[in-house]
Amino acid sequence: MGSSASSCCGEKVGEGYVGGDSSPWRLFSYKELHAATNGFSEDYMLGEGGFGSVYWGKTSDGHQIAVKKLKAMNSKAEMEFAVEVEVLGRVRHKNLLGLRGYCAGEEHRMIVYDYMPNLSLLSHLHGQFADDSRLDWKKRIDIIIGSAQGLVYLHHEAKPHIIHRDIKASNVLLDSDFRPLVADFGFAKLMPDGVSHMTTRVKGTLGYLAPEYAMWGKVSESCDVYSFGILLLELISGRKPIERLAGGVKRTITEWAEPLLAAGRRADLVDPRLRADFDDLQLRRVLHAASRSVQAESDRRPTMQRVLEIVSGTASAADPVKNSGLASGERINPVTSSGELIRIASIKYEKDLMEQDDDSNDGDIDCGEYTSVTSSELAAEGDSRSRCSGFEAVEVQRMKDRYGKYSAGNGTPAAIRR
Ligand SMILES: Nc1ncnc2c1ncn2[C@@H]1O[C@H](COP(=O)(O)OP(=O)(O)OP(=O)(O)O)[C@@H](O)[C@H]1O
Ligand SMILES: [Mg+2]
Repeated sequence: MGSSASSCCGEKVGEGYVGGDSSPWRLFSYKELHAATNGFSEDYMLGEGGFGSVYWGKTSDGHQIAVKKLKAMNSKAEMEFAVEVEVLGRVRHKNLLGLRGYCAGEEHRMIVYDYMPNLSLLSHLHGQFADDSRLDWKKRIDIIIGSAQGLVYLHHEAKPHIIHRDIKASNVLLDSDFRPLVADFGFAKLMPDGVSHMTTRVKGTLGYLAPEYAMWGKVSESCDVYSFGILLLELISGRKPIERLAGGVKRTITEWAEPLLAAGRRADLVDPRLRADFDDLQLRRVLHAASRSVQAESDRRPTMQRVLEIVSGTASAADPVKNSGLASGERINPVTSSGELIRIASIKYEKDLMEQDDDSNDGDIDCGEYTSVTSSELAAEGDSRSRCSGFEAVEVQRMKDRYGKYSAGNGTPAAIRR
């Protein structure tokens, strides 16, 4: 295995291999990261997320890095941090943002990644690059397929399998060629008490959260599939997962898409910034994958493997139907089926939860402690479709406006623009 960790901040040397290429990761000293980020100066800040702030930096050998400086954590979390870093260090895939290194001292815990020059999908869809229209249709399809490949690796190939739990536009980073790299996998598991197929704590982002996960803390790969389905809709439409309408009413992206699809107006879903320059065959594939992925019943959602097959057009109509949400004999790809209308479930969040959400872009939530429930208890709750709009026990973690502070200029920290 490509990793061997040791203690912190350069006292002993550890190294392994970073995802996406064969470059080794290593331990960084606090001093080194302090120097690389100009003392973690505001000018070097890329953004802020649930785990802390991210800074752009340059190492003494000229390598551009992104340093995630974690908020203070307790000793138990310190142990979990080590485990997570170990997991991150083992993962290698061209569409996953692996570890460049880390620093774990008495007072500081930091994760070091390669800096991604095109920042995140969020910045192109809704942030600082939103008006530049850099994401043409082909780029969007390549991003969809690449990020699906990264998730297939996490769900089906990584050992142990990894559930991301926070798939969203800000966690899909883009390199200089717009290749997508899914970030923060495994990392989201720093906070919880323990994960099997159930968890006692929910961490995620409003708008992307699978109903059963938000309500009962039931986590499985299909939660990621749900979030990915929302991301698909977001990518083709350029709309946010939750929009604030005039008068303060909020609407989920599925609520917006459902009537359009029901009326057969799929072209109206496409981002107007594309000026109708898109491939209808690919659009139908993506919509088909999205419609299957955002079903309220988790066991009807496809696997990530199947989602990848659908979006890349390799799904075979003759495939045995397994976990795909299709009836036996139903054809997998709507493109090849005669006149099948793609329909989508309209998922609505509980009013209370929507009201707690300050800004729908920033709907990061941490639901606090949940009582674990067993599958049979869950089944006894009855029809999940009718109950899934509940989301009652969720508390919104209020976040700073992601765009207000960093949207000026060309979207890179002042330090890089100089
Ligand atoms: N390697 C990187 N290169 C360039 N930008 C990055 C990199 N890593 C993170 N960022 C950017 O830094 C900002 C903060 O990232 P961070 O992961 O902390 O928060 P987030 O993705 O918004 O939320 P969450 O904590 O839920 O992941 C985001 O805009 C993200 O796109
Ligand atoms: Mg992130």
